[in-house]
Amino acid sequence: MSAPEAAAKPRVTFDRVSVEFPSKSGPMRVVEDVSYEILDREFVSVIGPSGCGKTTMLNMVAGFMQPTSGRVLLDGKPVGGPGPDRGVMFQEYGVFPWLTVRENIAFGLKLAANRSLAGERDAIVENYMRLMGLEAFADAWPRMLSGGMRQRLALARAYAIKPQFLLMDEPFGALDAQTRTAMQDLLLSVLAAEGKTVMLITHSVEEAIYLSNRVVVMSARPTRIREIVEVPFPYPRDESLHDTPAFGELRSHLRDLVMKEYAAQARQAVRLSD
Ligand SMILES: Nc1ncnc2c1ncn2[C@@H]1O[C@H](COP(=O)(O)OP(=O)(O)OP(=O)(O)O)[C@@H](O)[C@H]1O
Ligand SMILES: [Mg+2]
Repeated sequence: MSAPEAAAKPRVTFDRVSVEFPSKSGPMRVVEDVSYEILDREFVSVIGPSGCGKTTMLNMVAGFMQPTSGRVLLDGKPVGGPGPDRGVMFQEYGVFPWLTVRENIAFGLKLAANRSLAGERDAIVENYMRLMGLEAFADAWPRMLSGGMRQRLALARAYAIKPQFLLMDEPFGALDAQTRTAMQDLLLSVLAAEGKTVMLITHSVEEAIYLSNRVVVMSARPTRIREIVEVPFPYPRDESLHDTPAFGELRSHLRDLVMKEYAAQARQAVRLSD
């Protein structure tokens, strides 16, 4: 994977997007006037305090909900609903408990929208079971897996349908440090081979820098864009990037921004409880 061309088309446009949810004390504003674009083949990470509205923003791109005001465009058109062009990996894994490991991975490949992959189905399923280290559990049920294994299963499911656009909500959060690193590198190699656009929500500043072209830092709720940070490192990237001074500087800058937003959120909580 390489940085998208300067003239790359926007795949996603958030155009003055605001979201309100009803609450007992009236409408609660969660997203406040957010505008930015995700370009074709760009990897954008979104980082910000817990509860600020990150999943809400991803849900609008996935087509699960609409903004209260403003527009969310996919390839220039308002997002109408979910579609096979977008592979979504949910924060809480999104694996079906009533299907085995093998059946979960095959599930998306059996949908009509992915019929083009039918001939390759078995090979794709075997390949992703191997890449995720799940071969020995092919016929196991999700409840028999550890949390990290369920998360790897969810990754296998999302990659197997080869979507052009990956929407990933904290996909590596339940993994141990070694597996997390391996899964980040695997994602980079999938992207290098298949060329995708990615929107990734993460709480890890290191992960955001290591993987992304740009990092969107969101404020405390109602969430606004605090800063959009360009990550200047060329792809392919490898682990040693973490040890470079430039990585360290970017990490300090992003940590600082995120910590300020957590502090702002804590101050808000105190005000609300007064
Ligand atoms: N369907 C809904 N109805 C009402 N409130 C909602 C709904 N979905 C989300 N919220 C509220 O909107 C806010 C933002 O939620 P969201 O899930 O987008 O946060 P997040 O940034 O993804 O947090 P985390 O990092 O903890 O996953 C929260 O206060 C949440 O309670
Ligand atoms: Mg979330």
